Amino acid sequence: MASAPPTKTSYSALQIGLHWATALLIAANYFISDGMGEALDAHLAGDPVVGLTPVWHVWAGSVLLVLVIARLAVRFLTGAPQTPGRKTLAERAADVGHWVLYGLMLATPALGALTWFGKLDSTGDLHVLVMNALMITILGHAAMAIFHHYVLKDRLLAKMIPLR
Ligand code: HEM
Ligand code: HEM
Repeated sequence: MASAPPTKTSYSALQIGLHWATALLIAANYFISDGMGEALDAHLAGDPVVGLTPVWHVWAGSVLLVLVIARLAVRFLTGAPQTPGRKTLAERAADVGHWVLYGLMLATPALGALTWFGKLDSTGDLHVLVMNALMITILGHAAMAIFHHYVLKDRLLAKMIPLR
């Protein structure tokens, strides 16, 4: 008889590395974005792209897109830590929240890349709209992580930060 697969008890170093690398790049692209509307207009008009902001935003954002895809592949292949037994309602809600985050962190750079490389003016607004939803979800996610760790004192942060 086949035995049950072993339960994963923690995120791997690769998953932790990808979590923080993607978080850092998302934050950087949020702050290094001023003037992207004008840069897009110039790009669509066929003018050369000048300035550090559009070069960073497009290329770091494209690296981010690749890292998010890698992160999702690792997640599908290796899973996430599970608590034994039936999931509580709060654990199910956290799972849904994580998949919403994955969806938004994939859609935001994908729509940005579609706009820039596809030269599609129409998807630019959608990129910014989805990005705003991503930022709100991230704030909720970080607040919940801090609440769990410091108020509920369940050491949740230790899952993503190698704390002693
Ligand atoms: C751009 C910012 C961030 C994004 C996009 C993000 C995304 C995610 C995602 C998608 C997961 C689920 C991983 C999985 O189960 O496969 C996760 C887990 C986690 N994140 Fe973040 N995160 C961000 C920032 C933060 C910050 C600032 C903190 C700490 C304050 C944090 C703490 C955690 C913790 C502790 C987990 C593990 C939760 C658990 O397994 O129950 N994250 N993050
Ligand atoms: C999670 C990653 C990303 C974040 C947080 C982000 C954030 C932003 C923000 C805040 C703006 C508004 C800038 C302004 O109007 O002043 C913007 C616009 C824009 N971004 Fe991104 N971006 C990301 C990824 C990308 C990628 C990967 C590309 C292209 C490869 C890209 C291309 C664009 C373009 C073309 C605009 C102008 C859209 C328009 O005005 O219609 N972005 N982005």
